[in-house]
Amino acid sequence: MTRKRVGVLISGRGSNLGALIEAAKAPDYPAEIVLVISNVPGAQGLARAEEAGIPTRTISHKDFTSREAFDAALDGALKEAGVELLCNAGFLRLHTEGFVLRWLNRHLNIHPSLLPAFRGLHTHARVLDEGAKISGGTVHFVRSEMDCGPIVAQAAVPVLAGDTPDSLAARVLAAEHRLYPHALRIVASGAVRVEGEHVVGMTQIRDQPPLFSPPLDEAL
Ligand code: GRF
Repeated sequence: MTRKRVGVLISGRGSNLGALIEAAKAPDYPAEIVLVISNVPGAQGLARAEEAGIPTRTISHKDFTSREAFDAALDGALKEAGVELLCNAGFLRLHTEGFVLRWLNRHLNIHPSLLPAFRGLHTHARVLDEGAKISGGTVHFVRSEMDCGPIVAQAAVPVLAGDTPDSLAARVLAAEHRLYPHALRIVASGAVRVEGEHVVGMTQIRDQPPLFSPPLDEAL
């Protein structure tokens, strides 16, 4: 099996990165993480990567005078490492149109809501304000507009009475940690592809841990 060479972009804690690192330890996982780039010096996720022996780079957006120049530096580092698939995992910068086009349909992002609902920031507080009863996470291919693009996979969790933004964030995050490895697996293995602006193919794999409530096997 050839494993797809994956780059991960982070800005902070890197718990989703950690989930991807763990998943990629399995011999049958179709992707290996070959580079982690943070735009924030000292981001916690960098230490996780280093512990796992994964090469890291810090490319601070503050060192560049334009977004184009910053994205060109990212692109250069990714190419140098032979990255084939890119995963944003808590990367808090918007990409330029040129960067998005260069990585089109080879570039994933995770967002802590059931897109297209609740794009943008302060997601969990807005979910609670709206009185939504289900929330979750979404992995999608990146497009220029924030939190838009073909949806690869989603994981749902209940919103419970008494939830605060923090308690809901924690429940969604636990679901994200199952979701992102699953989404990267189905993309890297070629089980799914983008057709038009939709992801088609085998988006649901029965032997994966349940992503849905109720579990997928009961829902089918
Ligand atoms: C996650 O909730 C992710 O969905 C969002 O930012 C958060 C990153 O967390 N884009 P971590 O850095 O992976 O711990």
